[in-house]
Amino acid sequence: MWRATRNRFPAGPSELLKRWSFGPLNNNPLEYFTGIAREYGDIAGLRILNFRTIFVNHPDLIEEVLVTHARMYTKGRVLRANRHVFGEGLLTSEGDFWLRQRRLTQPAFHRARIASYAAAMVEYSQRMMDGWRNGEERDVHREMLRLTLQIVGKTLFDADVERDAQEVGKSLELLLEIGANFRRTIFVPHWLPTPANLRVKREVAQIERIIYRIIAERRASGRDAGDLLSMLLAAQDEDGSRMTDKQLRDETITLFLAGHETTASTLSWTWWLLAQSPAVEARLHAELDAVLGDRAPTLDDLPKLVYAGHVITESLRLYPAAWGLARLAVEDHEIAGYPVTRGMGVTMAQWVVHRDPRWYDAPEEFRPERWENDLLKRLPRFAYFPFGGGPRQCIGNTFALMEATLILATIARKFRLRLVADHPVVPLASITLRPRHGVRVKLESREKKEAVPSSNGKQAAVAD
Ligand code: HEM
Repeated sequence: MWRATRNRFPAGPSELLKRWSFGPLNNNPLEYFTGIAREYGDIAGLRILNFRTIFVNHPDLIEEVLVTHARMYTKGRVLRANRHVFGEGLLTSEGDFWLRQRRLTQPAFHRARIASYAAAMVEYSQRMMDGWRNGEERDVHREMLRLTLQIVGKTLFDADVERDAQEVGKSLELLLEIGANFRRTIFVPHWLPTPANLRVKREVAQIERIIYRIIAERRASGRDAGDLLSMLLAAQDEDGSRMTDKQLRDETITLFLAGHETTASTLSWTWWLLAQSPAVEARLHAELDAVLGDRAPTLDDLPKLVYAGHVITESLRLYPAAWGLARLAVEDHEIAGYPVTRGMGVTMAQWVVHRDPRWYDAPEEFRPERWENDLLKRLPRFAYFPFGGGPRQCIGNTFALMEATLILATIARKFRLRLVADHPVVPLASITLRPRHGVRVKLESREKKEAVPSSNGKQAAVAD
């Protein structure tokens, strides 16, 4: 059972919980929510001005919110405040409209369909590495962002966004950075011409230009590429009407954003963790060498890349790209005896639950082997929920896990990534959790060093 509640909502304005201010929340939300959990236990009422939210920190209570009472909530304030970016896309739409769009989109994410994306995931990773040289320094976060954006573009929209990837990637990144200011996002209307709002508008326009071009090209060609875009274009309502360009734009921008930055950040955290854990890295390399030898991975290898899968699972535990979720109650009800009234918020934090010693031994340590012997099955359902849960669970979870494991295997087979000393790797908890200044690494080829005679006749070691 969840721990006893120690902090009930104050009965009147004189008992406001003054400690909840946007300052600490904005500055370091990870620390902030960890502190609330430590101080108040599994459920806490928080209040600022007339803005009230309940923070729940027990898997059973999280299940109540995301599954049992799912219909009593809409998405939280931060996502709703970002509707001018995502429009009525899957992440932000609600009710019957959301359900219809989810059903339309779902077939693109069926297991069999996703399997056909595996080759593109490996091929784009290899193409990226063609430009990598032994000994050179790179920001691997930037590399992962570009790679996952290209993969989403190719697999879901059959669009080669290589030449656009830099611009779209930069714009999406800026949007997320601006979105990291919760106070601004919630309290400053998006139509006010503040510098940040104007910036958002410019970046959205930049992305839209590219998205509308992709839509127009497909409409003009009339080609059925068998991808998500063709499915969305062909979808018809009962009255025969089709999706407008605006609806297509909303779904597309949502999938580009939800589908690339999360996986890229997961991989960036993975490289960072691996570089600091030589024993884990060695075990991963041993598995890759045994399963793959000197060839690139394919879909069929995935069931054999068990340890690589655990590395990704563990990385998503410690650095969940979606570090917290929020909901807004639309009906009065109760959670664990707390009255939840319409308009009240509920917040949950994967960051906190995933590091709770009640569920994980040595929770701060990176130990992929903890997932051996079916730990997942033994945990309460919502002690591990990097992809959320209930009806609004991530539509791309299987896609993301397959993509992350294939990219990890493709790259780790060829390169070791060493951290560049003195480069700060700091988590930035905006809508997603990403390394604020990137992750600078030195590339070290894993190809066997062979001795070849150098021009002066002496033996020299070279790596591929
Ligand atoms: C490691 C990678 C990923 C993580 C950690 C992640 C996490 C999440 C989470 C936690 C949610 C639920 C949000 C909520 O309940 O408020 C979500 C929703 C969503 N994700 Fe992901 N995601 C990842 C990758 C992807 C990919 C690859 C795609 C698409 C290609 C994608 C598309 C979506 C969409 C469209 C939604 C909204 C679904 C709906 O409400 O119907 N995600 N994701």
